[in-house]
Amino acid sequence: MAKRSGGSGQPGATWALIAAAGSGERLGIDRPKAFAPLGGRPLLAESLDRLERSALVDAIVVAAPPGWEEPSILLAEELAASKVVACVTGGATRAESVGAALAEVGEEALVVLVHDAARPLVDEALLERLLGPLAEGYEGVVPALPVADTLKRVRDGAVVETVSRDALVAAQTPQAFLAPAVRRAFSGDLSGVTDCASLVERAGGRVAVVDGDPRLLKITTSDDLALVESWL
Ligand code: CTP
Ligand code: MG
Repeated sequence: MAKRSGGSGQPGATWALIAAAGSGERLGIDRPKAFAPLGGRPLLAESLDRLERSALVDAIVVAAPPGWEEPSILLAEELAASKVVACVTGGATRAESVGAALAEVGEEALVVLVHDAARPLVDEALLERLLGPLAEGYEGVVPALPVADTLKRVRDGAVVETVSRDALVAAQTPQAFLAPAVRRAFSGDLSGVTDCASLVERAGGRVAVVDGDPRLLKITTSDDLALVESWL
């Protein structure tokens, strides 16, 4: 069940969903990754604060780790994040968490941004890049970086082939979608889904790629946390 924040939550055209419900197994601390300390406050605070202060975002829904809904609401209140409309309980997978947050998005929404709390350093320039293609006929937009390493297809510990990386990129979040497209995509089967764009692609939607940002590193391990902390 969704818990309302104390914020005034004035919904509008662009909604941001923050997937923050993961357990952070690979980080291996005593609390969910979204509440790992980053620069003296919970990791979730960084992206929440940045999306709250963005001129491009009208409303925010947080998918919180089970049992951490209340601390998430308190955090939003501490940050005076009045765009936070709801904190929902996340699901067993990222896609289920995003689906739960999507269910809170108002009918007036035109654009839905889906972001990972694990990528704290989201900035306004990137949000601007994401929104452009949605006005040009695309239903989804993903930020992505070129792949630097040589890629090998491997089976049973042996290389099957070296994959050309020319046409490959590494996708980041936030990803932006037209609201009807993302709603349609999430009405189907969510199994085996690693990002929202793939659901939209599966449903036949056109998804554009824009330049990502190396500082949007996804925090997986404690080394990542230290690196991002050094960038704050
Ligand atoms: N996420 C979520 N709900 C889940 C699983 C993940 O909302 N059931 C979110 C995480 O909170 C994170 C993002 O999806 O912001 C990317 O997931 P990942 O980096 O894998 O985070 P965790 O699943 O928490 O980490 P781990 O896989 O190490 O347990
Ligand atoms: Mg995970």
